[in-house]
Amino acid sequence: MPSFSGSAPGKVILFGEHAVVYGQPAIAVPILQVSAKAFARPLIKAPSGIIHIEAPQVGMDTDLANLPEDNPLAKAVRATFSELNIDKPPSFLIKISSTIPVAAGLGSGAAVSVAIIRAASAFVGHPLPDEKVSALAFEVEKLHHGTPSGIDNTVITFAKPVFFIKGKPIETFKLAKPFTLLIADTGVASSTRIAVGDVRTAWEKDKDRYNQIFSAVGEIVQLARKAIEKGENEKLGPLMDQNQVLLKQMGASSTELDQLVKVAKESGAWGAKLSGGGRGGNMIALIEDSHAEKVTAGLLAAGAKAVIKTIVQ
Ligand code: PMV
Repeated sequence: MPSFSGSAPGKVILFGEHAVVYGQPAIAVPILQVSAKAFARPLIKAPSGIIHIEAPQVGMDTDLANLPEDNPLAKAVRATFSELNIDKPPSFLIKISSTIPVAAGLGSGAAVSVAIIRAASAFVGHPLPDEKVSALAFEVEKLHHGTPSGIDNTVITFAKPVFFIKGKPIETFKLAKPFTLLIADTGVASSTRIAVGDVRTAWEKDKDRYNQIFSAVGEIVQLARKAIEKGENEKLGPLMDQNQVLLKQMGASSTELDQLVKVAKESGAWGAKLSGGGRGGNMIALIEDSHAEKVTAGLLAAGAKAVIKTIVQ
């Protein structure tokens, strides 16, 4: 039996995080320079039904049978075989690696799930279609997020820009003109589950105010989609700035994120905001490509732990 691999890119949310959990639209794009990979190969001599998982970056080297239900890697494998109604697959080893920074808002958890589901289903000769892959990865996301909107697994599975509304059919769309983003890491690991939970607690205390903030975010997202589709990329900077103001009002930003946003703007970025759950993780800045070096230097001097330049297209 031959070997099979699966992979999936990282992602950033351009507009609409948090509000998307409450039914507003959001826009996310894949980041193709970073990816998660899973590689499945037969274990010829093992008795049937043995699945061995190796994920050296998280120190995992064990049989699936030893892993609890709530382990995300194990859940991705189990969900795949349960979907395929396969009780005992031929024994195999699945090796997982990723270049996506963890707990940074770049979708590492969802990308690992998608890579595993693709490799495991292909290994048994039933590669799952993208809709199914995304749906299974969403089930695993619940372990990471509690109440995920589904945006991460969607953009990562389809590897295209998505306009996402929770519970609605997936809408991918095209950019009229590419644009350049810098993704700067605050170095502060942040749990999306906690950030999402805190926003929910605050929403429960003052629903009117929070619903207003979420609607204002929704309007920004609609304007951003129009601008992206018309190639009016210069309009995106101010929209990112406005989205960041609203994210701050929700309590999703942090001192480190605010500092990187400020420095990005002072160094010439057209707009900047946190991306993902916030409180830490990454900030994104929209820049003119020729300004990349200057803005990167400013961000590193201001304490960014890493800066990735990406061309979104
Ligand atoms: O932290 P990330 O990149 O996984 O993004 C979370 C996005 C939220 O809108 C905050 C939550 C969600 O499930 O959509």
